[in-house]
Amino acid sequence: MKKKRGLFVVIEGIDGAGTTTQAKMLHAYLENRGVESVLTNEPTDEPVGKLIRDSLSGRIISPKTNKRIGFSEKALCLLFAADRIEHSASIEAARDRGTAVICDRYILSSIAYQSLDPAIKPKRVIEVNKGCSIPDMTFLLKVPVKECLKRLKNRKDVPTVYEKKKLLESIDRNYENARRRYRDTFGPVVAIDGTASQGDVHRAIIDGLGEYL
Ligand code: TYD
Repeated sequence: MKKKRGLFVVIEGIDGAGTTTQAKMLHAYLENRGVESVLTNEPTDEPVGKLIRDSLSGRIISPKTNKRIGFSEKALCLLFAADRIEHSASIEAARDRGTAVICDRYILSSIAYQSLDPAIKPKRVIEVNKGCSIPDMTFLLKVPVKECLKRLKNRKDVPTVYEKKKLLESIDRNYENARRRYRDTFGPVVAIDGTASQGDVHRAIIDGLGEYL
């Protein structure tokens, strides 16, 4: 008998919205229920993903000028898509084995963040991401920028270039504006109030998955 394909769930939101925490909680929940699952994230920990991370946290030094450089949103848009195309191969392999995949950020992040450059339209981001895995469900954690900045202050990680009030406000707007267009190509998006307790947010995600579980 053919194995049922594994579920593919994406958790999205601006920096500090709690995507990593909720992705981990969902992974633990599925494992506890005996549903084989893998937790993954973007940018990935593979070479292209690592290059992106180094750029976002200002760790790339130009060998020519010896100065710190960061890639443009146009370059990042393509790098994220390249990272994702490679990532999709392992996502599809897991799903084919019947393993569920939970991904901390995916294509909706590219639309919301890279279109900070007004020359990058959502349509273009969708275009370059065609051929990547299609999620069964995407959850968008909604947390006001002010609250996210408070949460980010308490983190030890090197901040990314996006962790600034004005930028996060634009990214937040981009997420809202992109939802419908994303849904048409990459499946349903459910917005969740991310200001509730971690447990309540987790339960809202489980409720949202309803028929899939
Ligand atoms: P990370 O340290 O993983 O942040 P978080 O823990 O909040 O997910 O850094 C990922 C950063 O990359 C985050 O600021 C969002 C950004 N990003 C994009 O700009 N485009 C994308 O397509 C993805 C997947 C992430």
